[in-house]
Amino acid sequence: MSRRKRAPAVLKKKTAAVPTVAARPFAYRNRTLHCDGVSLASLAEQHGTPLYIYSASQITERFQLFQKSFASRSHTVCYAVKANSSLAILRLLGKQGAGFDIVSGGELERVRKAHKPALKKVVFSGVGKQAWEIDAALKADILQFNVESEMELDLLAARAEALGIRARFALRVNPDVFAETHPYISTGLSEHKFGIDIKIARALYRRAAKSKWLDASGISVHIGSQIRKVDPFAAALERVTALVALLRRDGHDIRYIDAGGGLGIDYSDAPFDPAHQVERYAAALFKGLGDEQAHLLLEPGRFLVAQAGALLTRVLVLKKNGSKTFVITDAAMNDLIRPALYHAHHEIVPVRQPTGKASITADIVGPVCESGDFFARDRAIANVKPGDLVALLDAGAYGMSLSSNYNSRSRPAEILVEGTTTKLIRRRETMRDQLGPEVL
Ligand code: LLP
Repeated sequence: MSRRKRAPAVLKKKTAAVPTVAARPFAYRNRTLHCDGVSLASLAEQHGTPLYIYSASQITERFQLFQKSFASRSHTVCYAVKANSSLAILRLLGKQGAGFDIVSGGELERVRKAHKPALKKVVFSGVGKQAWEIDAALKADILQFNVESEMELDLLAARAEALGIRARFALRVNPDVFAETHPYISTGLSEHKFGIDIKIARALYRRAAKSKWLDASGISVHIGSQIRKVDPFAAALERVTALVALLRRDGHDIRYIDAGGGLGIDYSDAPFDPAHQVERYAAALFKGLGDEQAHLLLEPGRFLVAQAGALLTRVLVLKKNGSKTFVITDAAMNDLIRPALYHAHHEIVPVRQPTGKASITADIVGPVCESGDFFARDRAIANVKPGDLVALLDAGAYGMSLSSNYNSRSRPAEILVEGTTTKLIRRRETMRDQLGPEVL
């Protein structure tokens, strides 16, 4: 996921523009960066920084790209809540017909609160589900549990029996397919903790059929995240589809194939056509499925929300240490940990469009007391000075949802832009919020 270091396009091109405007809702108007029709400078003025800003129309567009590319077959897009679990974003997607992929009892409650009718379109993934989480999901009558171990299957049967509610389940199989991505977010090899070895899955389905509390409704697979090539998706699904044929022969009524999430975006300033990417992805899945007609479940997270969002931050200090220049911003690794955790690349652009070509090469860092607290290293960036605003692009996925209070920093506010209007969808945290749960 670590990208080649590129100078932001604003520095390379004569007529400065935000890179790959088509893929992002952020563009300059009157020399100021806007999200759709709203100026980021005015948002900073009104709500302060650091500030997460998302475009509702971009999220809708991405969801509709999926709907369109998969229209030829019966399917449900189950948005992966972990990518961005904001209630407003869940509601936006839920109202358009999305289902949800959850990994905890907490995410279940978020779906319930955001859009209750979507509970019946929830799939529950994760390697360590607890009895209370299973109980809550059974009572909510979710679509399916994606079971990741034999022990979990036993627990699910026991809870289903205790509550008298039959559990629909899929085994999440590990297809042993290699997908090129960062090692922390690759999941489809047998060395990973995820899924059940595809070779033993058939025997487990057979065992499960002995319990009247278990309904083998589907099969699922997820090979990792930020996967740019589509062939691994086809390969994984081909293995899954072959297994489905065997399972049917064994008498299991498999109705759902869950292809997981993982479709990657382009974090760089290279041209990127999201519509084409979804079409390629759909074609790969269709190839893997062959004639199989089961209802297809999809679990995209990043692809729907990453490029809709930016983290807006203000430059606090410029500092030189030896030969290095540091641009210190009021956002830090606790607000957006992806660069620190995965060496992930995020484009960083000034809110005020630069007039000349003057640039500096600097490390863009936060105020947190860790050398790993950086957004970019040795990056060519427009000549910024203290007080200037810059935006970290493609921060809509795994930004706020991975944020923390490290260094006792209060988390940013979040804004949803709807055309020319804005909605504060999460107020800035206060010290009161932080200290609330503590006991002296
Ligand atoms: N389904 C399952 C079972 C998953 O584990 C995940 C992501 C998804 C769907 C959604 O994947 P997506 O479409 O967003 O790639 N924090 C990392 C990504 C971690 C992904 C974890 N699982 C990052 O910032 O890159």
